[in-house]
Amino acid sequence: MTRQELVNVLLKRASGKPGTRGEAFAPANIALCKYWGKRDAELNLPVNSSLSISLGKLGTKTVIKFSKTADKIFLNGKPAPKAFAARLSAYLDLFRNEGQFFEVRTKNNIPTAAGLASSASGFAALVKALDQLLGWGFNPRELSMLARIGSGSASRSLYEGFAVWHAGQRADGMDSYAEALNREWPSLRIGILEVSKARKKTGSTEGMNRTSETSELYESWPKQAECDFDELRTAIAAEDFPMLGKTAENNALAMHSTMLAAWPPLCYWKPQSIALMQKVWAAREAGIELYFTMDAGPNLKLLFLKEDQAAVKALFPKVQVVNPWI
Ligand code: DP6
Repeated sequence: MTRQELVNVLLKRASGKPGTRGEAFAPANIALCKYWGKRDAELNLPVNSSLSISLGKLGTKTVIKFSKTADKIFLNGKPAPKAFAARLSAYLDLFRNEGQFFEVRTKNNIPTAAGLASSASGFAALVKALDQLLGWGFNPRELSMLARIGSGSASRSLYEGFAVWHAGQRADGMDSYAEALNREWPSLRIGILEVSKARKKTGSTEGMNRTSETSELYESWPKQAECDFDELRTAIAAEDFPMLGKTAENNALAMHSTMLAAWPPLCYWKPQSIALMQKVWAAREAGIELYFTMDAGPNLKLLFLKEDQAAVKALFPKVQVVNPWI
């Protein structure tokens, strides 16, 4: 099945009429159990289910209208870079009628410098805004499937707080959607530690494809991810923070291990990333309940509880603390 065929199936369910404007916000999200590997690259169907937490008010706001001539795409108030505009226009091709163009104004309030993926919140905000403009009247599950086609992790950015993205089994991907866990954990905090502002050489799509195709260690990944997914759900239900932190940190390190064993090898870490990991481990030995996770980049995201915030700030003065619940 192609992306276009899947979109056509979903669009048959649309109920409303097009309006003149759509506007939406979607939060960024950080996976505690990572999506790493695709069972279908065309439809962005993952090998394993994943679980994330959103970053509160940090994310993307998008406004979309019709445009008379070509697509006009703006990022943070300026005409968007070519590659960004091309990816967005190619995605919009899936939905446009002949001769129809769009004006998209998208703004990220995530410090781009923090190296946090904006494609997840970007596609989620775009899909929500498109739903208003084109009057689809889709539910969040349907929207998450459309966001998934833009970028897998975007499926989880439809929700605030904890979200799970079910891998599903169907070849057409109709069972591969994200949903909210609807469980608040008010004392949970995320700390962003920036190591590098530089654009990474290998993007997530290429990184996960190379890993699943060449890494001997990848064989162990789906099993570990499945266990971690269940453990995290249990930890969240019980508000067991050490269990959550340990599982998330181990999941990230296992994912990075599969990459190190890929060929050519893939290492997103910088020397400072390793120094920071060691600082986290030392803090834990000293009795602070502090854990980290990392995506396909050199930056660390710390996980801790509100009561340890002062200790974490003392250890990492540059940390940007995020409360996922506001
Ligand atoms: C390491 O969602 O960016 O952040 O579906 O190819 O666009 P594509 O990949 P993307 O990959 C995210 C990978 C990750 C883990 C995660 O967010 O689950």
